[in-house]
Amino acid sequence: MTDRPSVAEYPPVVLPSPERQLSLKGQKALVTGGSSGIGREIAIELGWAGADVVVNYLSGDEDAQEVVKLVGRRCGVRAYAHQADVSDESAVQSMFQRMKETFGGIDILVANAGVQRDAAFHEMSMADWNMVLNVNLTGQFLCCREAVRAFQRKGVVPEVSCAAGKIICMSSVHDIIPWAGRANYAASKGGILMMMKTIAQEVAPWRIRVNAISPGAVRTPINRSAWETPEAYDALMKLVPYNRIGEPSDIGRAAVWLASDYADYITGTTLYVDGGMTLYPGFDAGG
Ligand code: NAI
Ligand code: BGC
Repeated sequence: MTDRPSVAEYPPVVLPSPERQLSLKGQKALVTGGSSGIGREIAIELGWAGADVVVNYLSGDEDAQEVVKLVGRRCGVRAYAHQADVSDESAVQSMFQRMKETFGGIDILVANAGVQRDAAFHEMSMADWNMVLNVNLTGQFLCCREAVRAFQRKGVVPEVSCAAGKIICMSSVHDIIPWAGRANYAASKGGILMMMKTIAQEVAPWRIRVNAISPGAVRTPINRSAWETPEAYDALMKLVPYNRIGEPSDIGRAAVWLASDYADYITGTTLYVDGGMTLYPGFDAGG
């Protein structure tokens, strides 16, 4: 393992003035799976907070370019789209290399790309198992590793942020709630929980913060069938004490806060943004 930096190299932090703490001005962010759903809104919110943004996407160039336009035009920051499969090691390395050449480096990684391939357990194919684990877990491993390498090379730049770098892993309430018919997905999110904590423990001495956001049900293409009809929506609400579906901007705002110096002492934590889905709603009238 690389030698830990000494305490003297990383003296006590001086937090910036209150008005600067939520600002991400001068920071460079990469959002994987940034052309739709939660990733799209995170890219826009990061832009509003002042960060330059790389919008990673797998397919659908037009959607990615639209996010780039929204971020660039509305927020007045730099943005570009980068096509790459996050489960492909060399594609991920090229994505980080281009970011270094174009923006001069990275301060924030939001490892958000994810997929579902649902099947009853006894019928789940090896292809569906591998696909979900490769994208959701290995994809995050590859992106986090490149980000950590870049953060360690760069170190803390106090005018930019108290931390050398921030990573947000997009997990799910299904990192702790079992989910029948989705053993591959739940395993990938449970894996993210421990991977995130382990990386956080390992890289904290470099002032690199690693956290996860675990959304509940959020209105995106991944779970359309759970909200698009009134019947489905009513059934979903039985699982959500707060009685509304999450919107992608609920997650976008949480991501900005977690990436900002307001959250500077937070590392190795999972922030559940779920309207209470993890509160065992079935127990509200029994048990
Ligand atoms: P979405 O389907 O709109 O977004 C997923 C994104 O990942 C898409 O842009 C897709 O193109 C991209 N992607 C898929 N495979 C990729 C690959 N190999 N390389 C690069 N990009 C790839 O769905 P949503 O909901 O926005 O999902 C984003 C993340 O949020 C996922 O990790 C998902 O598991 C997580 N999540 C979603 C929840 C929800 O209720 N919508 C709840 C909890 C977690
Ligand atoms: C899944 C969604 C689901 C939500 C709550 C997410 O991880 O991707 O399909 O609606 O969890 O169950």
